[in-house]
Amino acid sequence: MELKELRIEYRKNPVGLDVTKPRFSWKIVSTESNVLQTAYRIVVTKAGELIWDSGKRESDTSVLIEYEGSALTACTVYRVQVEAWDNNGNYGAAEGSFETGLLKGTNFSADWITHDFADEETACPVFFKDFQLEKEIETVRVYATSLGIYEIKMNGEKLGDSFFAPGWTNYNKRLQYQTYTVDELQPGQNKIEITVGNGWYKGIFGFVCTPNHYGDRVATLAEIHVKYSDGTKEIIKTDNTWKVTTGRIRSSEIYMGETIDSTFINQKCSPVVVTTFDKNRLVAQESEPVRITQKLPAKELIITPKGEKVIDFGQILTGFIKVKVHGETGQKITVRHAEALDKDGNFYPDTLRQAISVDTFICNGQEQSFLPHFTFHGFRYISIEGLDNIDLENFTACVLHTDMEPTGTFTCSNQLVNQLQSNIQWSQRGNFLDIPTDCPQRDERLGWTGDAQVFAGTAAYNYNVSLFFTKWLRDLASEQTKEFGVPHVVPNILGDQDGAAAWSDAAVIIPWMIYETYGDARVLEAQYESMTGWVDYITARCGSNGLWQIGFQYGDWLALDKEESADRTGATDVYLVANAYYAYSTNLVRKAAEVLNKHEDAEKYSNLYRTIKKAFNKEYITATGRLVSETQTACVLALYFDLAEEKHRKRILQSLETNIANHKNHLSTGFVGTPYLCHTLTENNRHDLAGTIFLKDDYPSWLYAVKKGATTIWERWNSILPNGDFETSGMNSLNHYAYGSIGEWMYRRLAGINQLEPGYKKILIKPQLMKGITFVEATYKSVYGKIKSAWTCQNQRIKVEVEIPANTTALLLLPEKEEPIELGSGRYQYEYETTTVLEIEKFSMESTLKELLDEPLAVELLNQHSPGLTEHPMIQFAHNLSISEVLAKAPDESVVMFKSVIEALNQNEQSKS
Ligand code: BGC
Repeated sequence: MELKELRIEYRKNPVGLDVTKPRFSWKIVSTESNVLQTAYRIVVTKAGELIWDSGKRESDTSVLIEYEGSALTACTVYRVQVEAWDNNGNYGAAEGSFETGLLKGTNFSADWITHDFADEETACPVFFKDFQLEKEIETVRVYATSLGIYEIKMNGEKLGDSFFAPGWTNYNKRLQYQTYTVDELQPGQNKIEITVGNGWYKGIFGFVCTPNHYGDRVATLAEIHVKYSDGTKEIIKTDNTWKVTTGRIRSSEIYMGETIDSTFINQKCSPVVVTTFDKNRLVAQESEPVRITQKLPAKELIITPKGEKVIDFGQILTGFIKVKVHGETGQKITVRHAEALDKDGNFYPDTLRQAISVDTFICNGQEQSFLPHFTFHGFRYISIEGLDNIDLENFTACVLHTDMEPTGTFTCSNQLVNQLQSNIQWSQRGNFLDIPTDCPQRDERLGWTGDAQVFAGTAAYNYNVSLFFTKWLRDLASEQTKEFGVPHVVPNILGDQDGAAAWSDAAVIIPWMIYETYGDARVLEAQYESMTGWVDYITARCGSNGLWQIGFQYGDWLALDKEESADRTGATDVYLVANAYYAYSTNLVRKAAEVLNKHEDAEKYSNLYRTIKKAFNKEYITATGRLVSETQTACVLALYFDLAEEKHRKRILQSLETNIANHKNHLSTGFVGTPYLCHTLTENNRHDLAGTIFLKDDYPSWLYAVKKGATTIWERWNSILPNGDFETSGMNSLNHYAYGSIGEWMYRRLAGINQLEPGYKKILIKPQLMKGITFVEATYKSVYGKIKSAWTCQNQRIKVEVEIPANTTALLLLPEKEEPIELGSGRYQYEYETTTVLEIEKFSMESTLKELLDEPLAVELLNQHSPGLTEHPMIQFAHNLSISEVLAKAPDESVVMFKSVIEALNQNEQSKS
């Protein structure tokens, strides 16, 4: 048995940690089965001195164990040793460390510095200082932040590998600082330069593309802490001795792009201006930083019909292009970005709206590489101007996002579904850039709470999102008020708006998801006031019927069941949606209160939940079980949120089935109904129907976009219309993760990986077969270790393979078996007989008449039965009807005839394969 992956606050040996009571987690890796931890011991030391010894504790807890030693001191390295024992008498140990940061912002003794350049100056200021170090150096740390986004160079080399520091938080209350380790510093003359771009702080941002959301001057604050080998220390800090100039970055805006002039030499420099910004707002970096996580080579050079030189990277991504070039001095290269080509094959940047996303590079006559610093784009294609010969090898797409640990994989027998999974993960990567954004390309890129809420469950399968969301939830809470509730975007640059259902519910749903996924109760504790605050906000706005029926709502945003209208809210009654979420969130708050042992609150919210449910039934469900809006989404909410009375569930399910049948087995849901539609069907014994909807590949469906060549999830079901035109409402992103929320159903229902106890301490493996998919293999790296569920159903045999990590247990429900199996950790395989056939026949009663008549065999057989039938002049009018529609009123004899033709066609297909 081994202890692996010792993590401190989810991180490996973190440096610059300001958590006063860090939590320790480790994984037990063992070749034995049924392994459970029986005891652990944690020892923390500082420079050899014992700071905390937990002693040997009889416990099976191996995740998020809180430090209980004396108060930590700033800028200090702590060593951590963990020992653990298991039920087989084995012993393992692991070691790690953490280093505290400044612990509080007021421990910064540096001054904030800014510049007093003229207002029209767009170039990024470069703050710098030359400094002398006299003695042999042991360690160097730099603590830094900015108003704007910054990059530090030490003696010409960039510090660290992150981008967009200090990240985006609610700067009115919170601003992160970063810690850098510097290994190369030598005694003698040294130079530090800090370049600051406008970023989110001062840059052009928001729907109307205005600047200065938080302030009109960028600034920076930094300290270099040098520890000499003789034990003495020195701090070099930003103050009035620094100078400021402008450099090669002549302009940079997140939406607009960056201009780098490598011929630019600035002779002028000015003294800096010392300024102030509340240091109490400073917090250490809370989530993983944004990094370049992958580099994609250029795939193809395209000269478009309009003559544009376009490079295709084969994948929509978020980031920028690195260009290697040997140009003439002053030669200007322009790089534009777009997600798509139009149907004629021309460059199509319209989905960016006003975010023009143009990077401009001016060459210096040497061989050089250009890479933007303070901008990012959402794109697949770039159009190049200013270069005669394009060598694809000189262009690389750099993929940028918060560097979360990948945790999930999903593959199956259907290649379109595998592409869907890839699209979901790419949309997550494209939109988890420091905050969860709606889209990464147009003039938005905002932390829309609703989008994050509907996608969070899927996100947590694909990547470890604990730190990412913990940071963002703190901002959410910091933006929340009694008067307006939870804003629609976090950080909120849209001003005060009353909270809206499904969007503001992120305040409750996401902390609960983090608790369930990682067993992290501290998030619940930290967010508790925000969670209850949101429910209480709604309660305060309810009418005498106990329901929330006033104010603006997004409803089932972008649902297809209402003609596109200005409000885009779908056909489901917006207040039905609002009250469904009100009940759902209240119940989650009740559960959170229970976890936190707040008994009075638990009772209060439990009573409230019952009252809302009653009022909901009274208002939205008739005495005979009809919903006021019989939309797919309304039925889904009534069932999935467990709102309808037991006696009405059957009828509501029938309404849902009828509605789906009326849409020829297609969905018509928007942001609210989509994440739950397939879950609801699966939970209510209609997994078959969920599977049918899931595998549809004509409009509207998940696979429709895949078939249209999508490499990310689209904002709309019809972002690209069947005829190749783009949807033209002015709101059409090709990289919007909300509908990627189906990913959770794929992991939970198809692969069957579920948690039964927080953090997957107890796991439910319940794979569910579906027609059209013959194997699924999924893995999820939980906080305890890897979980695997894989099945195949072929040739009358079902095979299931399961892996359960040490220190957890599982319940396994095998497909087509009644009895659940209790499992301890280990690897298991099962194989048994079945009569189930999952392969889909190519032809069915749902095939169109044309599909049949395209087959010579069908024509031959039909004419054998009824000579001249296929030549009948009326037959062409029925081409697009399904066979069951054609036969709706036909005699039984015709039905039998068509069925036999279909059978013959399928047999023919089988013999071909
Ligand atoms: C965003 C959405 C968001 C919505 C709410 C849009 O502009 O892109 O995804 O949730 O607005 O109105």
